Amino acid sequence: MKTIELGQQGLKVPAVGLGCMGMSDFYGSSALQENLKVLDRAAELGCTFWDTADIYGPFRNEALLARALNGRRENITLATKFGIRRDAAGGWLGVSGHPDYVKASCEASLKRLKTDYIDLYYQHRMDPDVPVEDTVGAMAELVAEGKVKYLGLSEADSDTLQRACSVHPISALQTEYSLWSRDVEEDILPTCQRLGIGFVAYSPLGRGFLAGAIRHRDDLQAGDWRLDNPRFQEAALEHNRALVEQIEHIAASRGVTNAQVALTWLLARKPGIAMIPGTRKIPYLEQNWSAMEIELSADELDALDTFSGEFATMGARY
Ligand SMILES: NC(=O)c1ccc[n+]([C@@H]2O[C@H](COP(=O)([O-])OP(=O)(O)OC[C@H]3O[C@@H](n4cnc5c(N)ncnc54)[C@H](OP(=O)(O)O)[C@@H]3O)[C@@H](O)[C@H]2O)c1
Repeated sequence: MKTIELGQQGLKVPAVGLGCMGMSDFYGSSALQENLKVLDRAAELGCTFWDTADIYGPFRNEALLARALNGRRENITLATKFGIRRDAAGGWLGVSGHPDYVKASCEASLKRLKTDYIDLYYQHRMDPDVPVEDTVGAMAELVAEGKVKYLGLSEADSDTLQRACSVHPISALQTEYSLWSRDVEEDILPTCQRLGIGFVAYSPLGRGFLAGAIRHRDDLQAGDWRLDNPRFQEAALEHNRALVEQIEHIAASRGVTNAQVALTWLLARKPGIAMIPGTRKIPYLEQNWSAMEIELSADELDALDTFSGEFATMGARY
């Protein structure tokens, strides 16, 4: 197993964690018992870095994790997030980084998660109306109160990261990063390195696209959030297929899966980063976990690097 130290405050996690969002939201239906089995298997494997957020479900994903955490809380590094507001019916209510909202969100998450601490607490999206110093100030109070161990931000820019660190050490930035989303390499990753912030790659499989099974919009269930995402429009799926073919070529010659190639490429990034592929299926979880045992040659990594670096992905991330 490859372990990554996120930040400089002692937070150590397996490089491949588990994104739990799709179990409750965005990517079509799923079954409670199956989800619990995936979480049990993850714990058994040592895939103990679990990622959720209050808004996944909304709110149901944290409740799901509470069930899976029962009896093994101290073995799991639990990450959750606040900052995007939704109502119980799923309506979108904007963002908030207001200190009172930070405190109330944390209390609500602790209650749903049936735990008395969160290992890594992220601000999910920045609030343009509240200085990040105020938000992180409130998050730092949660650390002082023992309710949170480490702090993180998600999708923050370099200036925000710098300002946040002036208030309290930030252990992790969680932002999208994969073979089709490499924009963080220019400025964000160097900033994280300079400030001693760990990096957690979300959607490391390109929301499933890089794994190869999503070729057409028909491959997604009605109501799947991806149908509204620019990269999952038919023309983009067709154009971006060239990147999948490059991955497939290496996967076939190695006898591994596309998903494993996509994760192995991320696992080879320097300095090391953590990633949280999302899945609702035990075979996928096992594949993703075992990507840590695969070593691609320098030539294979170079080929992926060059092709994806020069590839103009069609469609914005959101
Ligand atoms: N901070 C943020 O703003 C933010 C945004 C998005 C996501 N996230 C976090 O990041 C996590 C991962 O991102 P994501 O779920 O959007 O995208 P992802 O991990 O790139 O891809 C998930 C998709 O890939 C499929 N998949 C997983 N492993 C596979 C394999 N081995 N072979 C084939 N298909 C495979 C899953 O299918 P099944 O579900 O059918 O197994 C699912 O459709 C989320 O769960 C969430 O915790 C954070």
